[in-house]
Amino acid sequence: MQESDKKTIIELNNVAKHFSDKAGNFTILEHVNIHIKEGEKVAIVGPSGSGKSTLLSLFAGLDVPTQGEIVVDGVLLSKLNEQELADYRNKTIGIIFQSFELISPFTVKENIETPLLLSGVRNDGKVRDLIGRVGLSERSNNIPKTLSGGEKQRVAIARALVNNPKVILADEPTGSLDRETGKKVLELLLEEIGEEKKTLIIITHDLSIAEKMDRVFEVKNKTLHEKH
Ligand SMILES: Nc1ncnc2c1ncn2[C@@H]1O[C@H](COP(=O)(O)OP(=O)(O)OP(=O)(O)O)[C@@H](O)[C@H]1O
Ligand SMILES: [Mg+2]
Repeated sequence: MQESDKKTIIELNNVAKHFSDKAGNFTILEHVNIHIKEGEKVAIVGPSGSGKSTLLSLFAGLDVPTQGEIVVDGVLLSKLNEQELADYRNKTIGIIFQSFELISPFTVKENIETPLLLSGVRNDGKVRDLIGRVGLSERSNNIPKTLSGGEKQRVAIARALVNNPKVILADEPTGSLDRETGKKVLELLLEEIGEEKKTLIIITHDLSIAEKMDRVFEVKNKTLHEKH
C-alpha cells in the first residue's frame, strides 16, 4: 500500500491549550497541527515542561483543548459525551503512563483485565496469554508494590494492549527504568505492537528510541515541529 493511501488516524487542527492560575492565563501549546496515519510510529521529544504530557492528555481525551479540534479515527473528540469519551479511552486508545498508574490493591492479572471487564468482556485465556507474553506468569497474583519498576511497566504495557486498541499512547515508558531494562521494555512494546496497523505515539527523552520511529516531532516554543 502506498504511504498516501493510508488513512489519517489522528488529526489536530490549530490546537491550543491555555491554563489559568492566580498569576493569570498562560499558554502551554498553540498552533499545533499534526496528521498521523494509521500504523505510524511517532516520537515526541522536547524539554521538561514544554507540554508533551499535556499534548498526550489531549490525544487521550483526558483534557480538552482551549482552541482547535482533535479528530481520532474519524471522531471529533469534542462531540463525545462522558460515556462515549470513556468508551473511546477504553477501546480506541491504550495509554501507558510514565508513573504506571496501576491500581494498587489489584493483582497483576486484575490490573491487566480491568479494561476488558469495563468493556463487558471476560476472557481469561487472552489475559493469561498476554501476561505470559510480557513475562509475568510467575507474578500474576502479585500486587504492584511487590513488583520492580520494569515489571510494573510491563503490567502497564499489557493493560494498554488488552483491548486491542488502534492507538497506543506512551508517556516516557522507559523513563524511570535503567538503560538495560528500558531497552528490554521498549523492545517488548514494539514487538507487541508488531507490524500491525497499530499507531504508536511515544514521548521520550531518549534519542536512540526516537530514531527508531517513523517520524519525530519536537515540542518547542509552545508548538510542535516535525524534525527531519
Ligand atoms: N493542570 C495544569 N494546570 C496548570 N498548569 C499545568 C497543568 N498541567 C500542566 N501544566 C503546566 O504545563 C507545562 C507543561 O507541562 P507538561 O507536563 O505537559 O510538560 P512535559 O513536557 O510533559 O514535561 P516533562 O518532560 O517534565 O514530563 C508545565 O509548565 C506545567 O506546569
Ligand atoms: Mg511529561
